[in-house]
Amino acid sequence: MKEGKGELKKRVVILGSTGSMGKQVLDVINKERERFEVVGLAGKSNLELLQKQAEEFSVPVVALADEEKAEKLRKRLKRREVYGGKKGIIEVAKFTPADLLICCIVGKVGLIPIIEAIKSGKNVALANKESLVIAGNILKNEAIRKRVKLFSLDSEEIAIFQCLEGYNIKDVEKIYLTASGGPFWKWKGNFEDITPAQALSHPRWKMGPKISLDSATLINKGLEVIETHYFFGIEIEKIKIIIHPDSIVHSLVEFIDGSILCQMGITDMRLPIHYILNYPERRRAPLPFLKLDTIRKISFEPPDFQKFPGLRLAYWAGKEEGTLPAVFSAADEVAVEAFLKRKIKFPQIVPLIEEVMKRHKILSNPSLEEILNADEWARKEAYQLLERGYL
Ligand SMILES: NC(=O)c1ccc[n+]([C@@H]2O[C@H](COP(=O)([O-])OP(=O)(O)OC[C@H]3O[C@@H](n4cnc5c(N)ncnc54)[C@H](OP(=O)(O)O)[C@@H]3O)[C@@H](O)[C@H]2O)c1
Repeated sequence: MKEGKGELKKRVVILGSTGSMGKQVLDVINKERERFEVVGLAGKSNLELLQKQAEEFSVPVVALADEEKAEKLRKRLKRREVYGGKKGIIEVAKFTPADLLICCIVGKVGLIPIIEAIKSGKNVALANKESLVIAGNILKNEAIRKRVKLFSLDSEEIAIFQCLEGYNIKDVEKIYLTASGGPFWKWKGNFEDITPAQALSHPRWKMGPKISLDSATLINKGLEVIETHYFFGIEIEKIKIIIHPDSIVHSLVEFIDGSILCQMGITDMRLPIHYILNYPERRRAPLPFLKLDTIRKISFEPPDFQKFPGLRLAYWAGKEEGTLPAVFSAADEVAVEAFLKRKIKFPQIVPLIEEVMKRHKILSNPSLEEILNADEWARKEAYQLLERGYL
């Protein structure tokens, strides 16, 4: 903590600050500057935006995964430390003194910087759900070992976290993860005809391409099932998905006495971001409030596993554990990319992931190295299947 105007400022590092989630974190901090100081930023290749963010928030340490662009940035940002490459992202995560690191990098590439941040003794909030899915137990154990706080920064996870405060996970009957249903919940057309543009236009949330597409297949919700399983240490069978197109109930916890608690709020990621930044305090958010008297109905529906078969794969991966969640997540990353590049059609996404999962020999209680190997294997397998035109 650093002394600000009469109060201590929380020092925050944001990895993936140039993406949708990262920009929202900076937006919240911008409105609460007396409380927070941004001490490190990192992105992959968006040099212009990273420079702008570094200047606007007077950030002393920044990194870009793209080495060439990092070199250019180094010339432009004279009195700041600029790191480049994969190693550079890790250096920012590891060596920047901070009270909280928020990882908004998309995909498995976020994993190693997160582990290094935890090892260096920082509290960590993970928007990067893929890392929890891939290596949930490793991250949790490392956080316990280093006595740091680990948060999962998803609207659903933050909702569950709040509902569970003061309660014992043993007293939970079920957790209901709410899902908007994405753009194709009520879609009447042929799934074969879905274009990347249609798949990326989420009805409720404005997000980056990977999570938007995962929301269209509902695999995003499947990833959250596994994330919830690891993060809260609850059996996979107790985690249910419930379609809630209104997106104002962010998740629910049912207890063994039949009581159900939920967290509601506006459909805006800045609300959970504000919560985590200020945790354990609850502070007034500079955001609009949910106007309950304007809401006429709140609806819930069961999910459709036939129409969205990726959900079945997620439960399978979460139940098996070991290296299967890493394989599920890696194959999904390849399938998302292939669909966005128009190499496969929308209904081929799930079969590609499933085929890779079927071919995998699961290792239980894997080490980090074994998880990374499984991830690499799954990517190669998926690319080979694509090349061979397996689908
Ligand atoms: N967006 C949301 O509202 C939301 C909500 C809940 C959870 N999440 C989760 O948050 C994560 C980010 O989602 P997003 O929607 O913000 O994605 P996004 O808009 O695509 O942003 C991804 C960020 O990761 C950076 N990045 C990508 N590869 C990198 C690498 N190799 N090294 C360093 N940085 C890298 C990008 O940098 P460049 O821009 O410079 O390329 C960008 O800053 C995902 O795991 C997602 O599931 C997002």
